[in-house]
Amino acid sequence: MRKIRKAVLPVAGLGTRVLPATKAMPKEMLPVFDRPAIQYVVDEAFAAGIEHVVFVTGRNKGAIEDYFDTAYELEITLREKGKTDILEALESSRPTPGSMSFVRQQAPLGLGHAIWCARDIVGDEPFAVLLPDVLVQAKSGCLSQMVDVYAETGGNIIAVEQVPPSEVDKYGVISPSSRNGNRILMNGMVEKPAVGAAPSNLAITGRYILQASVFGYLADQASGAGGEIQLTDAMARQMASEDFHAVEYDGQSYDCGSKLGYLRATIAYALQHEQLGGDAARILAEFTRPPE
Ligand code: G1P
Repeated sequence: MRKIRKAVLPVAGLGTRVLPATKAMPKEMLPVFDRPAIQYVVDEAFAAGIEHVVFVTGRNKGAIEDYFDTAYELEITLREKGKTDILEALESSRPTPGSMSFVRQQAPLGLGHAIWCARDIVGDEPFAVLLPDVLVQAKSGCLSQMVDVYAETGGNIIAVEQVPPSEVDKYGVISPSSRNGNRILMNGMVEKPAVGAAPSNLAITGRYILQASVFGYLADQASGAGGEIQLTDAMARQMASEDFHAVEYDGQSYDCGSKLGYLRATIAYALQHEQLGGDAARILAEFTRPPE
């Protein structure tokens, strides 16, 4: 079985749901407590054994590329001032040279189209997809849990979680056929079904392990829900001839694509912070104390 070495992170989205914060800054660079949201997703990918991250970017996303590069002047200044702890933290989060690629999606044609834009860099090997709007807090990262399942099942794996039935229309939703613990075999999936018409309340979380054959389905695909080329539609076609497992992973997801989801993520990551979590909890209590 081939190792999952590459991960595709689609970061071309405009961030319209969190405007005006994203007017001049990529939404992936907004801080979730003390680091940009994208850092958590890249950390999750590397922790799962990923060796190369492919960003599918768009216009005005240059800050992401700069963030993962050396900040030469800043680092020289930190060294001259003897701020070695900050310098070391920056150096340890910098990716190995050559372990990231950037390709542009030239038009906002949908998630499926964004993933298809990475086809030449991914080549003919299974790969992971992580949607950076979704952060997942988990003891063992969400993608790591999926890689463990993949080692046993091969094929294609997607992470799912239960959502309230009234919210299924915000997600891709799977049609489960049988369950073995947290693994679910499925016989279909649909993107953003109407409430009441969904095959289940198991929503696709935004983490995938896919065989490269998906690129073939994306290549000739008509647009689907919302007039966009959907990854879910390509996977549903791929499923006719390939195994697909869903994993109901152990962890908590946060949707940083919306203002309140972003607030929730910021609070959760602040409270979990190794050094500052206790202080963050005290500050939060000031705001939640009932009035006297
Ligand atoms: C995308 C996927 C959807 C998935 C969701 C998770 O939708 O198309 O299947 O459930 O991410 O956040 P989007 O949120 O980009 O509309």
